[in-house]
Amino acid sequence: MTYYSDKDFKLFKGDCLDILKTIDTNSIDMIFADPPYNLSNDGFTCQSGKMVSVNKGKWDVSKGIENDFEFNKTWLLECQRVLKSTGSIWVSGTYHSIYSCGFAMQLLGFHILNDIIWFKPNASPNLSGRFFTASHESIIWARKDKKAKHTFNYNLMKEINDSDDFLKNPGKQMRSVWAMTVGSKKEKLFGKHPTQKPEKLLSRIISASTNEGDLILDVFNGSGTTGIIATKLGRKYLGIDINESFLDITIKRYKNLKFNSNTLF
Ligand SMILES: C[S@@+](CC[C@H](N)C(=O)[O-])C[C@H]1O[C@@H](n2cnc3c(N)ncnc32)[C@H](O)[C@@H]1O
Repeated sequence: MTYYSDKDFKLFKGDCLDILKTIDTNSIDMIFADPPYNLSNDGFTCQSGKMVSVNKGKWDVSKGIENDFEFNKTWLLECQRVLKSTGSIWVSGTYHSIYSCGFAMQLLGFHILNDIIWFKPNASPNLSGRFFTASHESIIWARKDKKAKHTFNYNLMKEINDSDDFLKNPGKQMRSVWAMTVGSKKEKLFGKHPTQKPEKLLSRIISASTNEGDLILDVFNGSGTTGIIATKLGRKYLGIDINESFLDITIKRYKNLKFNSNTLF
Protein backbone atom coordinates (compact mmCIF):
# COMPACT_ATOMS: atom_id res chain seq x y z
CA MET A 1 0.00 0.00 0.00
CA THR A 2 2.84 2.43 0.84
CA TYR A 3 4.17 3.41 -2.57
CA TYR A 4 6.81 5.91 -1.49
CA SER A 5 7.99 7.14 1.86
CA ASP A 6 10.49 9.78 2.93
CA LYS A 7 10.70 11.47 6.34
CA ASP A 8 7.57 13.63 6.31
CA PHE A 9 6.19 12.65 2.91
CA LYS A 10 4.26 9.45 2.21
CA LEU A 11 2.32 8.21 -0.82
CA PHE A 12 -0.21 5.37 -0.81
CA LYS A 13 -1.35 3.55 -3.92
CA GLY A 14 -4.93 2.26 -3.96
CA ASP A 15 -8.57 3.14 -3.58
CA CYS A 16 -9.00 5.94 -1.04
CA LEU A 17 -12.01 4.09 0.41
CA ASP A 18 -9.64 1.29 1.53
CA ILE A 19 -6.65 3.40 2.51
CA LEU A 20 -8.61 5.94 4.54
CA LYS A 21 -9.70 3.09 6.84
CA THR A 22 -6.05 2.57 7.88
CA ILE A 23 -5.58 6.19 9.04
CA ASP A 24 -6.06 6.98 12.74
CA THR A 25 -9.15 8.85 13.95
CA ASN A 26 -8.51 12.56 14.76
CA SER A 27 -4.98 12.49 13.34
CA ILE A 28 -5.04 14.88 10.36
CA ASP A 29 -4.73 18.69 10.55
CA MET A 30 -5.97 19.48 7.05
CA ILE A 31 -7.46 17.61 4.10
CA PHE A 32 -7.44 18.74 0.50
CA ALA A 33 -9.66 16.66 -1.79
CA ASP A 34 -9.97 17.15 -5.54
CA PRO A 35 -12.21 14.17 -6.38
CA PRO A 36 -13.11 12.95 -9.88
CA TYR A 37 -15.13 15.61 -11.72
CA ASN A 38 -17.30 12.95 -13.42
CA LEU A 39 -17.26 15.05 -16.58
CA SER A 40 -15.59 12.56 -18.97
CA ASN A 41 -18.65 12.06 -21.16
CA ASP A 42 -17.02 12.04 -24.66
CA GLY A 43 -17.66 15.78 -25.16
CA PHE A 44 -15.18 18.31 -26.58
CA THR A 45 -13.36 21.36 -25.30
CA CYS A 46 -10.78 23.82 -26.62
CA GLN A 47 -7.10 23.70 -25.62
CA SER A 48 -4.44 26.01 -27.08
CA GLY A 49 -6.84 26.79 -29.94
CA LYS A 50 -7.47 23.10 -30.75
CA MET A 51 -10.59 20.99 -30.31
CA VAL A 52 -9.79 18.17 -27.85
CA SER A 53 -11.79 15.51 -26.00
CA VAL A 54 -12.94 16.43 -22.46
CA ASN A 55 -12.18 12.88 -21.30
CA LYS A 56 -9.65 12.86 -18.46
CA GLY A 57 -9.38 9.10 -17.95
CA LYS A 58 -11.36 6.07 -16.79
CA TRP A 59 -11.20 7.34 -13.21
CA ASP A 60 -13.29 10.38 -14.21
CA VAL A 61 -16.22 8.59 -15.85
CA SER A 62 -19.51 9.00 -13.98
CA LYS A 63 -21.14 5.86 -12.58
CA GLY A 64 -24.49 7.65 -12.46
CA ILE A 65 -25.60 10.45 -10.14
CA GLU A 66 -26.65 8.17 -7.25
CA ASN A 67 -23.49 6.06 -7.34
CA ASP A 68 -21.25 9.11 -7.60
CA PHE A 69 -23.06 10.60 -4.58
CA GLU A 70 -22.63 7.37 -2.55
CA PHE A 71 -18.92 7.38 -3.37
CA ASN A 72 -18.59 11.03 -2.31
CA LYS A 73 -20.50 10.45 0.92
CA THR A 74 -18.35 7.43 1.81
CA TRP A 75 -14.93 9.06 1.42
CA LEU A 76 -16.18 12.26 3.07
CA LEU A 77 -17.39 10.30 6.10
CA GLU A 78 -13.93 8.76 6.48
CA CYS A 79 -12.34 12.20 6.09
CA GLN A 80 -14.54 13.51 8.88
CA ARG A 81 -13.37 10.67 11.14
CA VAL A 82 -9.63 11.23 10.53
CA LEU A 83 -9.81 15.05 10.75
CA LYS A 84 -8.82 16.70 14.07
CA SER A 85 -11.33 19.09 15.62
CA THR A 86 -8.81 21.91 15.06
CA GLY A 87 -8.55 20.98 11.40
CA SER A 88 -10.45 21.67 8.20
CA ILE A 89 -11.19 20.20 4.80
CA TRP A 90 -11.13 21.74 1.32
CA VAL A 91 -13.08 20.05 -1.50
CA SER A 92 -12.72 21.30 -5.06
CA GLY A 93 -14.78 20.69 -8.18
CA THR A 94 -16.93 21.98 -10.98
CA TYR A 95 -20.74 21.83 -11.21
CA HIS A 96 -20.40 18.21 -12.34
CA SER A 97 -19.23 17.16 -8.86
CA ILE A 98 -19.35 20.02 -6.37
CA TYR A 99 -23.08 19.87 -5.56
CA SER A 100 -22.84 16.16 -4.86
CA CYS A 101 -19.89 16.73 -2.50
CA GLY A 102 -21.51 19.77 -0.90
CA PHE A 103 -24.79 17.97 -0.22
CA ALA A 104 -22.93 14.98 1.23
CA MET A 105 -20.97 17.34 3.52
CA GLN A 106 -24.17 18.98 4.73
CA LEU A 107 -25.76 15.59 5.41
CA LEU A 108 -22.68 14.44 7.35
CA GLY A 109 -22.72 17.54 9.57
CA PHE A 110 -19.58 19.28 8.33
CA HIS A 111 -19.78 23.00 9.04
CA ILE A 112 -19.19 24.89 5.79
CA LEU A 113 -17.00 27.97 6.29
CA ASN A 114 -16.77 29.30 2.72
CA ASP A 115 -17.26 28.32 -0.87
CA ILE A 116 -14.26 29.79 -2.63
CA ILE A 117 -14.52 30.69 -6.29
CA TRP A 118 -11.25 30.14 -8.08
CA PHE A 119 -11.54 32.42 -11.12
CA LYS A 120 -9.25 31.46 -14.04
CA PRO A 121 -8.51 34.57 -16.14
CA ASN A 122 -6.90 32.33 -18.81
CA ALA A 123 -9.67 29.69 -19.01
CA SER A 124 -10.21 27.92 -22.37
CA PRO A 125 -12.83 29.54 -24.61
CA ASN A 126 -16.25 27.96 -25.19
CA LEU A 127 -16.39 26.25 -28.58
CA SER A 128 -20.12 26.07 -29.21
CA GLY A 129 -20.98 29.70 -28.50
CA ARG A 130 -24.25 28.44 -27.04
CA PHE A 131 -23.49 29.10 -23.38
CA PHE A 132 -21.02 31.00 -21.14
CA THR A 133 -17.33 30.14 -21.01
CA ALA A 134 -16.63 28.06 -17.90
CA SER A 135 -13.94 30.05 -16.11
CA HIS A 136 -14.03 29.01 -12.46
CA GLU A 137 -13.95 26.10 -10.03
CA SER A 138 -15.58 25.99 -6.62
CA ILE A 139 -13.72 25.00 -3.47
CA ILE A 140 -15.74 24.23 -0.35
CA TRP A 141 -13.90 24.94 2.91
CA ALA A 142 -15.40 23.28 6.00
CA ARG A 143 -14.62 22.18 9.52
CA LYS A 144 -15.43 18.82 11.10
CA ASP A 145 -18.66 20.00 12.73
CA LYS A 146 -20.24 23.16 14.09
CA LYS A 147 -18.39 23.07 17.43
CA ALA A 148 -14.92 22.41 15.98
CA LYS A 149 -12.27 25.16 16.29
CA HIS A 150 -10.52 25.28 12.94
CA THR A 151 -7.21 27.01 12.20
CA PHE A 152 -7.35 30.21 10.12
CA ASN A 153 -4.32 32.46 9.61
CA TYR A 154 -6.45 35.54 9.14
CA ASN A 155 -3.68 38.17 9.28
CA LEU A 156 -1.45 36.27 6.89
CA MET A 157 -4.27 36.16 4.36
CA LYS A 158 -5.05 39.84 4.87
CA GLU A 159 -1.45 40.87 4.25
CA ILE A 160 -0.96 38.77 1.08
CA ASN A 161 0.24 40.94 -1.77
CA ASP A 162 -0.15 38.90 -4.96
CA SER A 163 0.30 41.05 -8.05
CA ASP A 164 -1.27 38.33 -10.24
CA ASP A 165 -4.49 38.20 -8.19
CA PHE A 166 -6.05 41.50 -9.26
CA LEU A 167 -9.03 40.83 -6.94
CA LYS A 168 -6.85 40.99 -3.79
CA ASN A 169 -6.07 44.37 -2.27
CA PRO A 170 -2.95 44.21 -0.07
CA GLY A 171 -3.80 44.91 3.59
CA LYS A 172 -7.53 44.24 3.05
CA GLN A 173 -9.41 41.11 4.12
CA MET A 174 -9.03 38.11 1.83
CA ARG A 175 -12.30 37.61 0.00
CA SER A 176 -13.82 34.38 -1.28
CA VAL A 177 -13.08 34.98 -4.97
CA TRP A 178 -9.48 34.31 -5.98
CA ALA A 179 -8.05 35.10 -9.42
CA MET A 180 -5.28 32.68 -10.41
CA THR A 181 -4.15 31.46 -13.79
CA VAL A 182 -4.03 27.69 -14.40
CA GLY A 183 -0.54 26.27 -13.69
CA SER A 184 2.44 27.14 -15.88
CA LYS A 185 4.32 24.67 -18.14
CA LYS A 186 7.13 24.69 -15.55
CA GLU A 187 4.80 22.96 -13.09
CA LYS A 188 4.28 20.11 -15.58
CA LEU A 189 7.97 19.46 -16.21
CA PHE A 190 7.81 15.95 -14.77
CA GLY A 191 4.68 14.73 -16.57
CA LYS A 192 1.16 15.94 -17.22
CA HIS A 193 -1.91 15.34 -15.13
CA PRO A 194 -5.18 16.36 -16.87
CA THR A 195 -6.51 18.26 -13.86
CA GLN A 196 -3.36 19.46 -12.16
CA LYS A 197 -3.98 22.27 -9.67
CA PRO A 198 -1.70 25.32 -9.74
CA GLU A 199 0.93 25.53 -7.02
CA LYS A 200 -0.20 29.04 -6.10
CA LEU A 201 -3.70 27.80 -5.27
CA LEU A 202 -2.40 25.14 -2.90
CA SER A 203 0.04 27.60 -1.39
CA ARG A 204 -2.82 29.91 -0.42
CA ILE A 205 -4.96 27.07 0.92
CA ILE A 206 -2.19 25.53 3.01
CA SER A 207 -0.96 28.90 4.33
CA ALA A 208 -4.51 29.89 5.29
CA SER A 209 -5.46 26.80 7.25
CA THR A 210 -2.35 25.10 8.66
CA ASN A 211 0.80 25.82 10.64
CA GLU A 212 4.35 24.52 10.21
CA GLY A 213 4.67 20.87 11.22
CA ASP A 214 0.97 20.11 10.59
CA LEU A 215 -0.06 16.88 8.85
CA ILE A 216 -1.91 17.30 5.54
CA LEU A 217 -3.79 14.57 3.66
CA ASP A 218 -4.76 14.63 -0.01
CA VAL A 219 -7.27 11.88 -0.75
CA PHE A 220 -6.92 12.28 -4.55
CA ASN A 221 -3.23 13.07 -4.86
CA GLY A 222 -3.01 13.26 -8.68
CA SER A 223 0.31 14.83 -9.65
CA GLY A 224 0.96 15.70 -6.00
CA THR A 225 0.61 19.49 -6.03
CA THR A 226 -0.63 19.45 -2.42
CA GLY A 227 2.34 17.37 -1.26
CA ILE A 228 4.88 19.51 -3.09
CA ILE A 229 3.60 22.73 -1.54
CA ALA A 230 3.13 21.09 1.88
CA THR A 231 6.82 20.09 1.81
CA LYS A 232 7.88 23.50 0.58
CA LEU A 233 6.00 25.14 3.47
CA GLY A 234 7.34 22.76 6.16
CA ARG A 235 4.21 20.62 6.60
CA LYS A 236 3.98 16.79 6.69
CA TYR A 237 2.12 14.99 3.93
CA LEU A 238 0.11 11.86 3.13
CA GLY A 239 -1.17 11.38 -0.44
CA ILE A 240 -3.47 8.70 -1.88
CA ASP A 241 -4.05 7.88 -5.55
CA ILE A 242 -5.33 4.83 -7.37
CA ASN A 243 -3.17 5.53 -10.43
CA GLU A 244 0.51 4.57 -10.33
CA SER A 245 1.59 6.87 -13.17
CA PHE A 246 0.33 9.94 -11.27
CA LEU A 247 2.20 8.87 -8.14
CA ASP A 248 5.34 8.54 -10.27
CA ILE A 249 4.97 12.16 -11.42
CA THR A 250 4.60 13.15 -7.77
CA ILE A 251 7.81 11.35 -6.78
CA LYS A 252 9.75 13.10 -9.55
CA ARG A 253 8.40 16.48 -8.44
CA TYR A 254 9.22 15.70 -4.80
CA LYS A 255 12.78 14.57 -5.53
CA ASN A 256 13.34 17.66 -7.66
CA LEU A 257 12.20 19.88 -4.80
CA LYS A 258 14.16 18.03 -2.10
CA PHE A 259 17.36 17.28 -3.94
CA ASN A 260 17.60 20.04 -6.58
CA SER A 261 15.83 22.64 -4.40
CA ASN A 262 14.17 24.24 -7.43
CA THR A 263 12.14 27.39 -6.94
CA LEU A 264 8.51 26.50 -7.43
CA PHE A 265 6.34 29.59 -7.39
C1 LIG B 1 -9.05 15.61 -10.05
S1 LIG B 1 -7.67 14.57 -9.94
C2 LIG B 1 -6.62 15.30 -8.70
C3 LIG B 1 -5.58 16.26 -9.27
C4 LIG B 1 -4.63 16.83 -8.22
N1 LIG B 1 -5.31 17.75 -7.35
C5 LIG B 1 -3.42 17.51 -8.87
O1 LIG B 1 -3.14 18.70 -8.57
O2 LIG B 1 -2.74 16.90 -9.67
C6 LIG B 1 -8.34 13.16 -9.13
C7 LIG B 1 -7.37 12.03 -8.90
O3 LIG B 1 -8.05 11.03 -8.13
C8 LIG B 1 -7.58 9.75 -8.50
N2 LIG B 1 -8.64 8.80 -8.10
C9 LIG B 1 -9.82 8.58 -8.71
N3 LIG B 1 -10.57 7.70 -8.01
C10 LIG B 1 -9.84 7.37 -6.90
C11 LIG B 1 -10.07 6.52 -5.78
N4 LIG B 1 -11.20 5.83 -5.65
N5 LIG B 1 -9.11 6.44 -4.83
C12 LIG B 1 -7.96 7.15 -4.96
N6 LIG B 1 -7.68 7.96 -6.00
C13 LIG B 1 -8.60 8.07 -6.96
C14 LIG B 1 -7.29 9.86 -10.00
O4 LIG B 1 -6.31 8.93 -10.39
C15 LIG B 1 -6.84 11.32 -10.14
O5 LIG B 1 -5.44 11.43 -10.17
